[in-house]
Amino acid sequence: MIGIFDSGLGGLTVVKQFLKYLPQYRIMYFGDTANLPYGTKSRKAITNYSIKNTEFLIKQRAKIIVIACHSASSVAALGLRKKFPQIPIFDVIKGGLTKAVKESKHKKIGIIGTAATIKSGVHEKFLKSLDPEIKVFSQACPLLVPLIEEGFKARPETKRIVRYYLREMKSQFIDTLVLACTHYPLLYKVFFEVLNKRVKIIDPAQEVAGEVLEFLKKNPKIEKQIERDSQKYKFFISDKPYRYEEFSQRILGKKIKFKVVNLE
Ligand code: DGL
Repeated sequence: MIGIFDSGLGGLTVVKQFLKYLPQYRIMYFGDTANLPYGTKSRKAITNYSIKNTEFLIKQRAKIIVIACHSASSVAALGLRKKFPQIPIFDVIKGGLTKAVKESKHKKIGIIGTAATIKSGVHEKFLKSLDPEIKVFSQACPLLVPLIEEGFKARPETKRIVRYYLREMKSQFIDTLVLACTHYPLLYKVFFEVLNKRVKIIDPAQEVAGEVLEFLKKNPKIEKQIERDSQKYKFFISDKPYRYEEFSQRILGKKIKFKVVNLE
């Protein structure tokens, strides 16, 4: 089983890419909806939640863990790898940034995410380690997650807010934008329009699916341990929040049966 966790349901954008690129493998998803959002919480809180999420997925016999949440990937991935050395743990950072460096012709890259993600500085550090000449423009966009969850993606208000958040990057002529938040692929069109259709937009969810696929090709022992029954996907959440069914259906395009588990 491939275990994927997120702070809530936004991580289903990552599941969507796994369904596309690795449809043969069985996936188990855990959305920590009781503790959502992670993006405004402290490093300590996000790390503690992430440890519990990982323990749960390992108990459910996950052989690989994917951190779909960018906030958790930014502040907790290193700690998780130290605490659970027995299991490969993937995050949504490195693959997307590596792709961004490949795509960026003028070495001007924008990163948008939650406050926790941007505050961590992890993206900037990794980009500079790939190429010290790269100029990074980072922007926390805390209003976007609630707007997306509320279904406001086609509203003029949302476009105005996106314009506000991207104004500095736009004036600096970034040529590549990394969507460092699970929810942002749902606003792809708005980013594209606000940036005058000239900027390459990277969704790290695609990259992590590709990374896991490569990893499984190179590690047949682990690959053999992953069940191959895509009909038996399992979706767990820690609470049934407001409109959770509607939001998840909007992402995956189908109705999902969730099981509620309490990780306390
Ligand atoms: N999943 C979070 C992320 O990608 C967004 C929602 C939240 O703040 O928990 O950072």
